[in-house]
Amino acid sequence: MTDDTTAGPAGDWTGWRAAAEAALYGPDGFYRRPEGPAGHFRTSVHASPLFAEAVARLLCRVDEALGLPARLDFVDMAAGRGELATGVLTALPADVAARTRAYAVEVADRPEALDHRIEWLTGPPKNITGLLFANEWLDNVPVEIAETDASGVPRQVLVRRDGRERLGEPVAGAEAEWLDRWWPLPPEEGLRAEIGLPRDEAWASVVATLERGLAVAVDYAHTTSSRPLFGTLTGFREGRGTAPVPDGSCDLTAHVALDACALPGGRVLTQRDALRALGIAGGRPPLTLASTRPAEYVRALARAGEAAELTAAGGLGDFGWLLQPVGLSVGIPDEPLDGPLADLLVDVPDHEEQ
Ligand SMILES: C[S@@+](CC[C@H](N)C(=O)[O-])C[C@H]1O[C@@H](n2cnc3c(N)ncnc32)[C@H](O)[C@@H]1O
Repeated sequence: MTDDTTAGPAGDWTGWRAAAEAALYGPDGFYRRPEGPAGHFRTSVHASPLFAEAVARLLCRVDEALGLPARLDFVDMAAGRGELATGVLTALPADVAARTRAYAVEVADRPEALDHRIEWLTGPPKNITGLLFANEWLDNVPVEIAETDASGVPRQVLVRRDGRERLGEPVAGAEAEWLDRWWPLPPEEGLRAEIGLPRDEAWASVVATLERGLAVAVDYAHTTSSRPLFGTLTGFREGRGTAPVPDGSCDLTAHVALDACALPGGRVLTQRDALRALGIAGGRPPLTLASTRPAEYVRALARAGEAAELTAAGGLGDFGWLLQPVGLSVGIPDEPLDGPLADLLVDVPDHEEQ
């Protein structure tokens, strides 16, 4: 933390929320660059087509829970270049694909070669009947950052375009209430928290676009029992972590308090558990297959490697899946999975995996 109070060529001091909004989504923002997110980091969507296959399977289960509607919506929220929507359409059985309307919701422009069946929008459509899936969206919804001063008071962190920081006013109002409720900071100097209120609001606003179905948010997550002491704000550029500088040159991301985002009836699982229930696990194929059907064995081995990456401890497997059912006929889920989520996330027997 520096304490330079002058504004200079690096611009004025602002809160992190406004700084990240301009750096990521402004006219020259990071996410408007031609290379797209995949030019800088790998999400589960890029890691393996198994991820889109699992989401397609989830869409089929939502379809059944909805009673096979004439029009089934699939919304790829914060779609990057539409890779997930493309993979889901490819993986769906033909009869379901024929009833599916696929949407990609994205700040950036529509890629030229995108499948013509995918509608490209800047905001989610209304009255969705189906599945809205937001992979690594909420971590890119800009938030304010609080840091405790020498007296232990949480203050807003101000930043300039060159990444230099200083402390501003004490956190107040709804943001202070959010901190008290979801991320209380002990009165010790230098502790930091990301104030997730705009993410809660963003999530509530997309869930409100569902008439019936399921909304899913997948992200690096923490819960009240595991908040990091110094926050998680970081930058990413060309596959590497960098200092978070809000000048449009890098991604700016902070892990998500998914428990705070959850609305009544919502449930947070790990990606490992969610994918397992959707038929993706990292088990190796039986060795006997190598001698009887070697080509199949090699394919199965490759898929097992990809499944292992998607479910890895210390990696993508630790991501949180926030599942938010809307208007599905059965009641609110409880421990362990029951209600609407039990039908959507049934554990798949080993012989049916992948
Ligand atoms: C980390 S990337 C994830 C892309 C893709 N979902 C994936 O998993 O590969 C985040 C994406 O969210 C988009 N985004 C952020 N806020 C958005 C919003 N309010 N509406 C639409 N897209 C948004 C960004 O432009 C960026 O492409």
